[in-house]
Amino acid sequence: MCGIVGYIGNGNGVEFLIDGLNSLEYRGYDSCGIAGISDEDVRVIKTVGRIKNLEELTPEDLVFNVGIGHTRWATHGGVNVVNSHPHQSASSRFTLVHNGVIENFQELKDRFFKGHNFVSETDTEVIVQLIELFAQDGLTTKEAFLKAISKLQGSYALCLLDKEDADTLYVAKNKSPLLIGLGSECNYVGSDALAMIKYTNKFLEINDGEIVIVKANSVDIEDKEGNLVSRNPFTPNIKYGEIDKGVYDHYMIKEINEQAFAMRNIISKYFDGKNVSMDEEIINNIKDADRLYIIGCGTSYNAGLVGKNYFEKWVRIPTEVHLASEFAYNMPILSKKPMFIFLSQSGETADLRAVLTKVREINSDYKFLVLTNVDASTLSRECDYTLLLHAGVEIAVASTKAYTSQIAVLSILAYEVANRLGYKLKLDIEKELSVVTNAIESILDDAKNIKVLADKLFTERNAFYIGRGVDYYSACEAALKLKEVSYIQTEGFAGGELKHGTIALIEEDTPVVALITNTKLDLNTRGNISEVASRGANTLVITLEKLAREGDYAIPNVNEELAPIVSIVVTQLFAYYAATGRGLDVDKPRNLAKAVTVE
Ligand code: AGP
Repeated sequence: MCGIVGYIGNGNGVEFLIDGLNSLEYRGYDSCGIAGISDEDVRVIKTVGRIKNLEELTPEDLVFNVGIGHTRWATHGGVNVVNSHPHQSASSRFTLVHNGVIENFQELKDRFFKGHNFVSETDTEVIVQLIELFAQDGLTTKEAFLKAISKLQGSYALCLLDKEDADTLYVAKNKSPLLIGLGSECNYVGSDALAMIKYTNKFLEINDGEIVIVKANSVDIEDKEGNLVSRNPFTPNIKYGEIDKGVYDHYMIKEINEQAFAMRNIISKYFDGKNVSMDEEIINNIKDADRLYIIGCGTSYNAGLVGKNYFEKWVRIPTEVHLASEFAYNMPILSKKPMFIFLSQSGETADLRAVLTKVREINSDYKFLVLTNVDASTLSRECDYTLLLHAGVEIAVASTKAYTSQIAVLSILAYEVANRLGYKLKLDIEKELSVVTNAIESILDDAKNIKVLADKLFTERNAFYIGRGVDYYSACEAALKLKEVSYIQTEGFAGGELKHGTIALIEEDTPVVALITNTKLDLNTRGNISEVASRGANTLVITLEKLAREGDYAIPNVNEELAPIVSIVVTQLFAYYAATGRGLDVDKPRNLAKAVTVE
């Protein structure tokens, strides 16, 4: 949540600040701002709404040799210009941007500023006021920054500007993502590499608890004890061109269309000839575990539910799937030899990081594998092992290609562990995933007809997806996708559960879409569809060609275990067309953000 940028150098940083914020807008987009030193004074420009509003407010001739910027997803205080970042200290000497949540901000206000009025309602303002307070006591800016940070509880990524020292940016982080980008005669700060990739491909990681003194020609990282840390830069596996919309109107449709490409990429990365190529330690840890705990949020959680099937059916290992936000605080009794599999497209999700901390407090020897799309993301650095999704950058808030890639990588992993355990599976996973890839392509080719169906179906305020077995999990994901981008109230239901309550909601024309990709459950789910149709529902069945009846939407036949990767594509297109048909901003749905970095 929230994105921050910083620039210091001999050139003009304004273009970078605006470009960087545009790339980070997916993290939060209710308000934004930049600040920098111009003619020895600090200039702050803030606005409610999107970065394009900020661009309009920014004079073309504005020059900042040092500057900071922020795009906000409100946590403390309403969405207005006053609460938007950057925030300033009382004298305007210090200006700060912050991503994260300061849990003890009220306590700090009461302790250090009793009786003082703060300008904003944010937790951030207390940090910048503390820095000024400590500087007024005679501390240098670095000392004041360090002292203020030592008082904070919670998460933060901070970038501080001091009007009296235009040659330095002060940077620190704890539990919120932040990177330094290395330039020539300049340096950058950004919440992620995407924000800076147009300008540099050399980055420095910052660890929690470190502070970084950034100047035009130097970057000094100091650990908690004040020792200088030497760290090699890294180059992530992304290119500037990848973050372009290309010929598409929206990132969501571009990413839906990239799913066949993502599947091919996964096949090429995880197969070496006919053999699966994956870190032996990952395979061995899963082989030796007595229970798997797959943990994720939102779409990643739904992918985990599908993955559970592979581990239970093929590997015969008990597998639990949990929501990270629940698991951290309502932990089940863990087995004797658990292995944790985290699913996170962004690799930044705070709820998952909380699980990591809590479980490691119980036993620091437990092993964690993360499946993520972002190389060098926070979770990738913090977990013991990483499997990359290789889906290519996903920018739209609604996750599509990451979901299908998560399922594909989980299927390969489970398949390989089953092989190593000597279980003879009756499928050639590489071949079946190629069939899946072709099936996805043929659905994408049929997008026009899918749009016609979407226009006919989603005319009401609410909708339902139903399914049984693994199709129930797909129904949950299909419902999440439709509701998050179109704002149609949608639920995913286990077909058999309808008559235990939810069928009361069915009225004339209520859309109900059934997913059927399992031959054994075909008749059961059709029974449920006929129950709702008799009560006036506007129904559609999405099923495999071999099971299709008149009026169904048929998807190509694929291995039934892998069919969730294919059937979901139709529902992603439904969500896209339902949202764009309503004129909504499909890439940036209201109240959401792509990387959820606060708990
Ligand atoms: C997906 O469409 C959602 N916007 C959201 O549920 C997302 O999947 C969730 O926040 C988890 O994110 P992660 O995969 O980056 O951890």
